Amino acid sequence: MEDNSKSEIDTEKELRVRKIKNGTVIDHISPGNALNVLKIVGITGKEGMIISIAMNVPSKKSGLKDVVKIENRELAPEEINRIALISPNATINIIRDYEVIHKKKVSLEKKIQGVIKCLNPNCITNGNEPVKSFFRIEQTNPISIRCEYCDRIMDYDDITQQF
Ligand code: CTP
Ligand code: ZN
Repeated sequence: MEDNSKSEIDTEKELRVRKIKNGTVIDHISPGNALNVLKIVGITGKEGMIISIAMNVPSKKSGLKDVVKIENRELAPEEINRIALISPNATINIIRDYEVIHKKKVSLEKKIQGVIKCLNPNCITNGNEPVKSFFRIEQTNPISIRCEYCDRIMDYDDITQQF
């Protein structure tokens, strides 16, 4: 009896963010980047879903990680792959009835349209024309992207400072 309650308490101590019934878990986010990940997928918190965020927690694999759990919402692939720009090792887990039914590593798309702003103030995408931003991947690890219109190269800091 005593042992039972003790182990229950221990389990409770271990529990940081509990499992979710349905939704999306973004796991293995580079430590400190959870809030940027939410911003890049366009989630502000005003939508009303339950969102749990754990930052700088020890990862079973190695080092530290951030984790974001979004309940009752399954992220679409195009939303998911943007995450690769700021957290290339993130994994997306789709949860249904407590089970992980899909697990996928994020992957960079070749073209990045309308997500990142070009930092060249004279770029046509920053003028009055209705031209969406458009970058191609210049280099991965460390990431850099090139503006299709003005050739401006943007690095990791240029990207994350926007979020
Ligand atoms: N998860 C959750 N709710 C569930 C199932 C899983 O919040 N009902 C979370 C887990 O806490 C974990 C992630 O989803 O952060 C992936 O779960 P799982 O595949 O069971 O964990 P691992 O095997 O450790 O995953 P990986 O190998 O990707 O590290
Ligand atoms: Zn540009």
